[in-house]
Amino acid sequence: MRFWRKKTAYEPAAEQLSPPEHIAIIMDGNGRWAKKRGLPRTAGHKAGAKTLEHITRAAGRMGVRYLTVYAFSTENWKRPAEEVSELMKLLGTYLDDYRNLIGEDDIRIRVIGSREGLSVDILEKIDRVEQATADRKSLTLNIALNYGGREEITAAVRRIATEVAGGRLECAQIDQTMVGAHLYTADIPDPDLVIRPSGEQRLSNFLLWQCAYSEFWYSDVNWPDFTEQDLRRAIDDYHKRNRRFGGV
Ligand code: FPP
Repeated sequence: MRFWRKKTAYEPAAEQLSPPEHIAIIMDGNGRWAKKRGLPRTAGHKAGAKTLEHITRAAGRMGVRYLTVYAFSTENWKRPAEEVSELMKLLGTYLDDYRNLIGEDDIRIRVIGSREGLSVDILEKIDRVEQATADRKSLTLNIALNYGGREEITAAVRRIATEVAGGRLECAQIDQTMVGAHLYTADIPDPDLVIRPSGEQRLSNFLLWQCAYSEFWYSDVNWPDFTEQDLRRAIDDYHKRNRRFGGV
């Protein structure tokens, strides 16, 4: 089903130029959004999940091929047990819901991150949604869950070292392509654009290897308030950048 290039009230340059192939988003500010309204932090995460659904569809309509979102980092386990448990419950619900909801829109869902420490229930939901959407083609939504960039690189190094120790690989054969092929994102192009709302301007252990040449775009809006128009602004701004990848 072709669903992109639908006309909307806001028609910026983003509609005329091809969009970034891969956008990564750090969905930050859910807690602050909730606090401002006197609500529990979980209400912010719920609202954030709705925003994700909306933005995923919008990105699909614009022709973005990959959207990678930071849902739960390896460091987020440090949060109060109650918040972690609520977040996991919410993620589980959404993994089930997305299978149906986003399914109509030809969106493939993949989960990247460590499986260690995740409950059997969540692991089953991940497997189900990945299998159910495996043949969808227009947009791939990568959900970074129990993800940490340093952990990802460390795991890759460990696997490569195991191959060397087993005599299947020479040290001299290790190059950047090989390292990249051992990451969760092995068959996904690097992000062109990284968006972080909520006024924070840091990477927070997200896609450390993959963001080597990504463009960054920040906004003061908290993630639950992030709109399709914000996405279009980010893309318009991206089109004005001059990407040199270390060249001149
Ligand atoms: C950061 O905001 C956000 C998170 C740690 C969780 C992001 C999760 C969602 C949007 C929930 C749904 C996700 C999916 C894939 C269904 P924060 O809590 O650190 O906010 P704060 O900095 O304002 O406290």
